Amino acid sequence: MKRDGPLAGKCAFISGASSGIGAAAARVFCRDGAAVMLVARREEKLRALTHELRAAGYEAEFTTADVVRGAEVAAAVERTLACFGRLDLAFNNAGAAAPQVPLHETADELYDLIMDTNVRGVWNCMRYQIRAMLPRGGAIVNTSSTAGLVATPVAAPYVASKHAVVGLTKAAAAEYAARGIRINAIAPGSTRGEMLDDWLERQPGAEELIRSATPLPRLADPEEIAEAAAWLGSDRASFVVGATVPVDGGWTVR
Ligand SMILES: NC(=O)c1ccc[n+]([C@@H]2O[C@H](COP(=O)([O-])OP(=O)(O)OC[C@H]3O[C@@H](n4cnc5c(N)ncnc54)[C@H](OP(=O)(O)O)[C@@H]3O)[C@@H](O)[C@H]2O)c1
Repeated sequence: MKRDGPLAGKCAFISGASSGIGAAAARVFCRDGAAVMLVARREEKLRALTHELRAAGYEAEFTTADVVRGAEVAAAVERTLACFGRLDLAFNNAGAAAPQVPLHETADELYDLIMDTNVRGVWNCMRYQIRAMLPRGGAIVNTSSTAGLVATPVAAPYVASKHAVVGLTKAAAAEYAARGIRINAIAPGSTRGEMLDDWLERQPGAEELIRSATPLPRLADPEEIAEAAAWLGSDRASFVVGATVPVDGGWTVR
């Protein structure tokens, strides 16, 4: 097994690992020396990525779980402990996007889907991960968004949900830092992948608008976001606690 790099010896749980930023994180964390447990709902995607990583000489396992359901998250954390004997690093990245619908026309079902996935999902993950990490410490990185820092032009529940991730991150970071668990968040800007590609298809002209509003005028590749998560989760970020790090090409600087 290849286990060299800044995450050498660490066992990582990655939610939303079946595509986009989470799948990129699986590759980056493995390259940096971690063993990874890949978690999402689409089994075939997880299986294919696990095979790819193993074929490259890395240590990877997968398990399906819906992060909205606490019992499924608990089982995924248990499986991580059963496979690796420990949990050192968690990247809570599963999330649902929302089309830009006027707030007063937004259905309750959309509100529930977004808040349940993005907020309850992180809540469920942290609760069970923290229990598993308390005996030996660890690091947690949650995925917020530029929509967790300012009101981006997406549906209001998405903006609210990603602000809530920042709040949950700060609260948990303050509570557990002295007990050896560092908790931080990243706030990605517009990043290539299924989620953004779907959204851009429904918003003609949006890609050009994003570019023109970004000091570094392009979209991110998922790997660029994963690199920030890997750093925050590594011991190289040992004094970073409760931060939300924008990874957005400067989109939120003005
Ligand atoms: N792309 C962007 O521009 C951007 C910008 C800022 C923040 N973000 C955030 O970055 C994260 C990853 O997004 P992405 O761009 O990589 O999009 P993506 O490719 O659509 O990935 C979303 C991931 O979340 C998983 N997921 C969704 N609902 C889930 C649930 N209930 N239970 C378990 N897993 C679930 C999906 O897997 P399954 O469908 O297989 O379950 C998928 O692996 C999200 O939190 C998103 O809000 C993205």
